[in-house]
Amino acid sequence: MATEIIYFLGIVFLSCSMIDASRGHGAHRTLLQVGGGGGPAVFNVMKYGAVANDKTDNVDAFRAAWADACKKSTTQAKLLIPAGTFRAGPTMFAGPCTSPSPITIEVEGTVKATTDLSEYVSPEWFTIQDIHGLVLTGKGVFDGQGAVTWPLNDCKKTKGNCAPLPASLKFFKVNDSIVRDITSLNSMYFHYHIHGCSNVTFTNLTITAPGNSPNTDGMHISTSDRITVTDSTIGTGDDCISIGHSTLNISIHRITCGPGHGISVGSLGKRPDEQSVNGITVTNCTFVNTTNGARIKTWIGTHPAEAKNIVYEDIILDGVQNPIVIDQSYGSKKKRAPSTSVWKISDVHFRKIRGTTVSNVAVSLQCSSKNPCEGVEVADVDLAYAGRPGNTTFVSSCLNAKATFGGKLNPPAC
Ligand SMILES: *[C@@H]1O[C@H](CO)[C@@H](O)[C@H](O)[C@H]1NC(C)=O
Ligand SMILES: *[C@@H]1O[C@H](CO)[C@@H](O)[C@H](O)[C@H]1NC(C)=O
Ligand SMILES: *[C@@H]1O[C@H](CO)[C@@H](O)[C@H](O)[C@H]1NC(C)=O
Ligand SMILES: *[C@@H]1O[C@H](CO)[C@@H](O)[C@H](O)[C@H]1NC(C)=O
Ligand SMILES: *[C@@H]1O[C@H](CO)[C@@H](O)[C@H](O)[C@H]1NC(C)=O
Ligand SMILES: *[C@@H]1O[C@H](CO)[C@@H](O)[C@H](O)[C@H]1NC(C)=O
Ligand SMILES: *[C@@H]1O[C@H](CO)[C@@H](O)[C@H](O)[C@H]1NC(C)=O
Repeated sequence: MATEIIYFLGIVFLSCSMIDASRGHGAHRTLLQVGGGGGPAVFNVMKYGAVANDKTDNVDAFRAAWADACKKSTTQAKLLIPAGTFRAGPTMFAGPCTSPSPITIEVEGTVKATTDLSEYVSPEWFTIQDIHGLVLTGKGVFDGQGAVTWPLNDCKKTKGNCAPLPASLKFFKVNDSIVRDITSLNSMYFHYHIHGCSNVTFTNLTITAPGNSPNTDGMHISTSDRITVTDSTIGTGDDCISIGHSTLNISIHRITCGPGHGISVGSLGKRPDEQSVNGITVTNCTFVNTTNGARIKTWIGTHPAEAKNIVYEDIILDGVQNPIVIDQSYGSKKKRAPSTSVWKISDVHFRKIRGTTVSNVAVSLQCSSKNPCEGVEVADVDLAYAGRPGNTTFVSSCLNAKATFGGKLNPPAC
C-alpha cells in the first residue's frame, strides 16, 4: 500500500511540474510564498489553509505547501510550520526537489499525530524521502501521541500479535542533509527511522518517551552510511540509538541516554538480506539508569555477515544494568547454550568507560562458538558496583571471545 501512496504523490508532482513548465518563467509568482531579503522563499503552511486548533487534520495544507516549495519554487525554499498546535495524519515530504538545494523544513509549533490507526496505510507518520540536501530545524515538537497506541504494541501482552505502529519520522533516501534542534515526543514506535540514507547529521535533538513505553527507540539506523548523531538528549522505552544492518561509518558523540536500553549495534542477522556493519564510533556519551550501555547483539542467523570496526570510548555510566555486552544469542530461546551465530564480530574496542553499575557481571562478552569474536579490546573500564548489597561478586564474563584487557580494570579481566 505504501507503493500506492508514492505513486499517487508522483502523479501529483508530475502534474505540478507540467503546469509549471507550461507557464514558463514567472510561474513562481503565483505561489503562496513570502520571500525577499536574500533568505529562502518561505512557504508557510498557514497560507495553504493549515489551522492551528489542535483538531483539524492539516495533511492537505502540509502537502500543498511542500509541493510548491519542492517542485515549483525556482529559488531556495523553506516550508514553515509556525507556532501553534497542528494535528496531522500520515504526511509525506518527497523529492526529488527541483528547487535549489538545500530545502528547509522549519517547525516552530507542535505537530500532533492523528491517533486513529486506520489512517496509517504504512507504518510511518512523517515520511521524508528522495531528498538531496534537506535542513530540518526549529524549536518545534513532533508529538506522536504514543500513549494511546502503546498497549497495542506490547508484544508480551498481545503474545506476538502486535501491530507495526508508525514511526514518527522516517527518513528514506535522504542524502547530504542536516536535522537539528527539534524535539520528538512520545512516538508510537521508533522516533526516528533512518533507512537508505547517506551523509546525514542529526544534532541538538531532544527525544523523549517514558521508560516503560514499548519499542520507542530514539533512532534506528539501517542500510545507511555516514550518519552522525551528536549533542542530543534521548530518553525512551527502548534503545536510545540502535544501529542495524548494512551500515557503514556511523558516528555518535555526546549523547545523554536514559531512561532506555542504551546505544546498541543490532540486533543483527534476524533476516537473510542483512549486510555487514562496519565503522561504528560511539564516544563521549553518558548513560543514566539504562538497562544497557555499550551493546552489540546478533541473532544466530542464517546468512553470514560481519560486524566490525566498532569503538565505544569515553563513556560515563550512572546506575547502568549491563554496561558492556556482546550477545550473539539475541532472540534465541536457548539462552544458556553457547551461540552458533553465523555473524562474525571483530575489531571492537571498549575504552575509557567509567561510572557505576547495578550488575554483578559488568562486562559480558558472549560470542559465537562457530565464529569467535576477534580483536576485542577492553581497556580502562573502571566501574563500581552500586547494586543491591549482599552479593559482592564483580566480574567480567567471556565466552568464545578473543579479548585483550588493559589499563585500569574494574571488574578484573575474564
Ligand atoms: C543518495 O545517495 C545514494 C548513494 O550515493 C544514491 O544512490 C541516491 O540516488 C542518492 N539519493 C538522492 C535523493 O540524492
Ligand atoms: C555532506 O552533507 C553536507 C550537508 O549536510 C554537505 O555540506 C557536505 O558537502 C556533504 N559531504 C559530501 C562528501 O558530500
Ligand atoms: C538547540 O535547540 C534548542 C531548541 O530546541 C535551541 O533553543 C538551542 O539554541 C539549540 N542549541 C544550539 C547549540 O544550537
Ligand atoms: C568510512 O570510513 C573509513 C575510515 O575513516 C574511510 O576510509 C572510508 O572511506 C569511509 N567510507 C565512506 C563511504 O564514508
Ligand atoms: C571526548 O572527550 C574527551 C575527553 O574529555 C576529549 O578529549 C575528546 O575530544 C572528546 N571527543 C569528542 C568527539 O567529543
Ligand atoms: C536512577 O535510579 C535511581 C534508583 O532507581 C533513582 O533514585 C534515581 O532518581 C534515578 N536517576 C534518574 C536521573 O532518573
Ligand atoms: C552473585 O552474582 C553472580 C553473578 O550474577 C551469581 O553468579 C551468583 O550466583 C550470585 N551469588 C549469590 C550468593 O547470589
